Amino acid sequence: MIQKTSPAQSTSVFNHLLDITSLTDSALTDLFKLAQFFLNQLQQGRKHYSILQQATLINCFYEPSTRTCTSFELAAKHLGAQVVNLHIPTSSVNKGESIADTLETLSALYTDLLVIRHSENHIAHQLAEKITYNPFCPMHIINAGTGTQAHPTQALLDAFTIKQHFNDFSSLRIAIIGDSLHSRVARSNVELLTQLGVSDIRLIGPDALLAKDLAHANLSFYTDLMTGLKDIDVILLLRIQKERMAQALIPSETDYFKTYGLTAEKLKKTSPKAVILHPGPINRNVEIDSDLANSPQSLILQQVSNGLAMRMAIMAHLMNINEETLKQNV
Ligand code: CP
Repeated sequence: MIQKTSPAQSTSVFNHLLDITSLTDSALTDLFKLAQFFLNQLQQGRKHYSILQQATLINCFYEPSTRTCTSFELAAKHLGAQVVNLHIPTSSVNKGESIADTLETLSALYTDLLVIRHSENHIAHQLAEKITYNPFCPMHIINAGTGTQAHPTQALLDAFTIKQHFNDFSSLRIAIIGDSLHSRVARSNVELLTQLGVSDIRLIGPDALLAKDLAHANLSFYTDLMTGLKDIDVILLLRIQKERMAQALIPSETDYFKTYGLTAEKLKKTSPKAVILHPGPINRNVEIDSDLANSPQSLILQQVSNGLAMRMAIMAHLMNINEETLKQNV
């Protein structure tokens, strides 16, 4: 049996996962512990649990996705839940139904977990406030990437990946290279890494693509790649998001690669031991040299595996299942 979330049961349990700023330190600790537990089990060949066998998850992806959508589906199935992937092109959105009405309808179908990706910035928060119909089955909303503002589950899996390589966040120097202005990954990462105590985060990229509106004492901005990369421990590359740029803000992909693309040669001159992360999908030979993306310094596929464990952790946490309950289930 799943236990439904009740704030009285644990102060760290959240009802929805909408952004990073609403996560407490204690919730973060729980999520990292749960993700480590699930990852250990996956590595030993254990995938299936029955802890969410009474639960239903619906994936609502209004924008394309491979990693996030698939890993939420797999994570929910591994935990025993029923999963539906709403096919947006044939849904009633195309008959003019609003997203709020669609989600209220899904809640009336006794949906426990609703995963949403959408191009609008504040849609997950707005929906979490509006959807109130079903008192017998409160629906937990999980933000799987909204607009240019938030991609909290990506930031969580990125931080989990960094934690596997470094003991202490506070002494880390982390560079985020690329289009931070249009990047929900960059924004959620800056928020989470700041909360985890990272004191040196450098945003690097063309001036027109730097998220200068972000105001944190630990943030600095660089237009020169080699200066920004000096003595860096972790490099987080961002995808050039042509779909979010209102106008051409980079001259060409070839020029971008020449100036900001990461290569083994540039790395050797600045931070030879740095580890490389990229949320994917990668534009090979635009953000990163193709061989470097395949090298041992690249943690890109490790991020994907960690994403499955972290999304299992998020769902377990939302349903108020802790590590102890899980251990009894093994
Ligand atoms: N990183 C990420 O969100 O990838 P997808 O778009 O493939 O889900």
